[in-house]
Amino acid sequence: MRSEPYKIKEVKKSRALAPYERWNILKARGFNTFRVLSEDVTFDMVARGMSAWSHFQKAALMIGDEAYAGARSYYTLEGAVGEVLGVGSIVPVHNRLGAEKLVATTMIQRGQTVLHNRGQGSGLVAAAGGVEIDVTSAGAAAMGPPDRFGANLDLPRLGEELARLGGGGAAYVHVELCPDGWGGQPVSLANLRAVAELTHQHGVPLVLDISDVLTVAWWNRAAGEAGESLVGLARQMLELADVALMDASHDARSDVGGFVWAREARRHDALRNQVVVFEGLHTYGGMTGRAMDVFAVGVREMASPELTEWHQTQIGELAHMLAAEGVPAVRGSRGIVLDVAAFLPHLEPREHPKFVLAACLFIQGGIRPRLDGTWSAHAQGAGARWLHLELPRCAYTRNHLREIADVVSSLYAARAEISGLRLVNEPEFVDEAVFEPVHERLFVTIPRAERSVRRLFEPYKIAIFEPLRMPDRAARREALERAGYNTFLLRSEDVYIDLLTDSGTSAMSCHQWEGMTDTSDTPYNNRHIEELQATFREVLGFEHIIPTHQGRAAEHIMSQCMIRPGQLVPGNMYFTTTKLHQEMAGGVFVDVIVDEAHDPTSDFPWKGNIDCAKLSAEIERVGAANIAYVSHECCVNMAGGQPFSMANLKELSRLCQRHGIPIMFDATRCVENAWMIRLKDPDYAHRSVREILREMMSYGDGCTISCKKDFLVNMGGILACNSSELAGRFRRMLRIWEGEVTNGGLDTKDIVALTRGLLDSLEDDYIKMRIEQTQELGRQLMAAGIPIVVPPGSHAIFIDAKRFLPHVDQDEFPAQALAAAIYLETGVRTMERGNVSKGRDPVTGQNYRPKLELVRCTIPRRVYTNSQIDFVAEGIARLWEKRDAISGLRFVYEPKVLRFFQSRFEPVRPWSF
Ligand code: F0G
Repeated sequence: MRSEPYKIKEVKKSRALAPYERWNILKARGFNTFRVLSEDVTFDMVARGMSAWSHFQKAALMIGDEAYAGARSYYTLEGAVGEVLGVGSIVPVHNRLGAEKLVATTMIQRGQTVLHNRGQGSGLVAAAGGVEIDVTSAGAAAMGPPDRFGANLDLPRLGEELARLGGGGAAYVHVELCPDGWGGQPVSLANLRAVAELTHQHGVPLVLDISDVLTVAWWNRAAGEAGESLVGLARQMLELADVALMDASHDARSDVGGFVWAREARRHDALRNQVVVFEGLHTYGGMTGRAMDVFAVGVREMASPELTEWHQTQIGELAHMLAAEGVPAVRGSRGIVLDVAAFLPHLEPREHPKFVLAACLFIQGGIRPRLDGTWSAHAQGAGARWLHLELPRCAYTRNHLREIADVVSSLYAARAEISGLRLVNEPEFVDEAVFEPVHERLFVTIPRAERSVRRLFEPYKIAIFEPLRMPDRAARREALERAGYNTFLLRSEDVYIDLLTDSGTSAMSCHQWEGMTDTSDTPYNNRHIEELQATFREVLGFEHIIPTHQGRAAEHIMSQCMIRPGQLVPGNMYFTTTKLHQEMAGGVFVDVIVDEAHDPTSDFPWKGNIDCAKLSAEIERVGAANIAYVSHECCVNMAGGQPFSMANLKELSRLCQRHGIPIMFDATRCVENAWMIRLKDPDYAHRSVREILREMMSYGDGCTISCKKDFLVNMGGILACNSSELAGRFRRMLRIWEGEVTNGGLDTKDIVALTRGLLDSLEDDYIKMRIEQTQELGRQLMAAGIPIVVPPGSHAIFIDAKRFLPHVDQDEFPAQALAAAIYLETGVRTMERGNVSKGRDPVTGQNYRPKLELVRCTIPRRVYTNSQIDFVAEGIARLWEKRDAISGLRFVYEPKVLRFFQSRFEPVRPWSF
């Protein structure tokens, strides 16, 4: 798979500071990156506990059983471990150290030796009175790529040591499948088999650390352990062990927790009796019930290979990008390993080049490498040579990787200028170290080239993801037939990337979720509603802010309160629900948008503009008193997400003021319109999106908003105006039609999410990324020669189906056929906007055959990564090459009203692709 097997469900916003800001932060923290606060780090490159959760894990957090004894969560965890790894009862612990502590204290007798491949000493073995010998093969220090299995044990040496120690001399052999001390180099299954044979021969138990068992299984399969599933290989490894321990924060992607398992009942009993001494009762072992439930889901998710495969794909890509720039780095199994000696050969060991490189990475690009444990492990020998940039699982996107690679290589280009650090204390552990620079500065930060669009990176990391499935072609064909070739009737489970709509489909931020957990859910007045009103008032500038459950509810009320039967409502192209409510109130919609908006080939930049001459003519024709208001949509949806210009808005405002006609915005996509003004109008190139939006709204008298789009919520609407008299009438209707006057029927949690979503949407970095993503899809489709509505809009790319399928007559529904074909070819769901949507003329009974016959690819906000956008573009380009194989459709079932939702079709000729 070239793109993620998941979509983003929740984001954690990240900050990218300027290098001088990071310098000051680091200086205040003794030039030790460990001590920097995570808020100031853009890329925290430690895999442990930093991975994203699946949304099932997040749900599990809410259902933990916090009973002291016999908690349901413990049995859930045990069941999951049994199901996936095939082992029996487990002893729960709070993390890897908890597990090692139980093993060391129950299995070591004073003076006994522990043989291991861990690359570093364990204080626990010493504390239990044991002695350690590292018997890793000599290759480990050279840090080869994972397929060399550098952490394999030196078998002759192991054999000798076991023989020398004799029965009783060795406590156990501790094999870490992916030892931190050797930079996460893996162990091969073949080596493990031989180790197990030796330990059994000598009657010494084999303790296996399986925290990264899937990662290691992946490398073993890559090296030729063929025909086996990853879990199958993991089970094979476990079968060789007498005792196994697992830290939940690695392959199981949890934050905390772990377990120990023992094959023999007497060992299991010993561990279980010991757990109460050090960790907690044997049915929770220092984990909360919720931690056990989260862990259990993580374990169950290990059963499918996609997440492990994607993690390895990402690491491979990062390694490739660095290699292309000549950066001395090795691909590791959990990330990248930088060769400090080759990176900074001019620094003496006493200048602490490893810590210098860590500091420089932070200053240059907010990267924090993995640096923890004892000082000695990093200050001497092989440990001082390698600096690890681990990749958390499922947390970063391809553009994040590009940025990371760019930071590292720009630093590498300037390496000669980098100077050293002086240690000013005597640390025992890395976190204690304090440095000062040998010279005034470590290096002169390199001004990096203005990021190309391809290099823009998301100003957030993935906190929660939702796993996705890509059904194969046969399954897609079946799903499409079941759905009657209508994408509205597909089940979302059968869709890989869902571009049906940007409405209510956004990923929320942790900031939004956080607010939702502490709400007062009264239907009467509460602080949340007042906060919402104050925030919207400040941002939009309208005096009265009235929440509704979504956009059409606000449209209904505005139309009923402001339109007298027979009045005209001029607007910049219609939107379905907006026009419907205007007509239900007795109004007559007239389209006064510029002509260019109706021409998909015109690349006029302001296709959302109102043609003031057209409007003047209407005013002259019917008189200003017969015009209810101008209905002015931001980033016009049906025109392809096209913005209006500020100059046009000013002109409109002057015209309307002269005639006393109110301007009411449909501000559903107002933030996007504001950014488009910044993008296309040099006068606004240096203004913030917030300022531009405020100015836009100042020319109007009120608005309706479907907050499900720009404001990053799954539900919500707003009705706003300046007139107190009008607001009074709005509120009266609100109570009758929607809900309490306070919340308009909107849940308090959604109110809080909306207040915070509005603030999220006004962050320039976010909105820039958002719009660039859509533009990029447009550019890629155009580069493939595919006819789209130009210029690319803000929320969607519209494909011109008439030109894509010129051989299909409009009464055989080219846009419907194209949307169906896109799904069949790519697993991507899009939406028809053409002859089917428009319906039939009630008088003639004929299809309307509208001018625009389009397929809309709508981009949800913060949900898909640029890799997935590339996937969409490549898929549609593939289809373009075989477009002749697509025939039109005919109705099998056709409802009378709004037929596009429920109708069913079949191809007029069978599709041969
Ligand atoms: N106005 C515009 C411009 C819209 O795009 C929408 C919804 C609405 C109003 C209605 O708001 O759905 O909250 O009641 N557009 C969605 C779409 C359905 O897919 O374009 P709602």
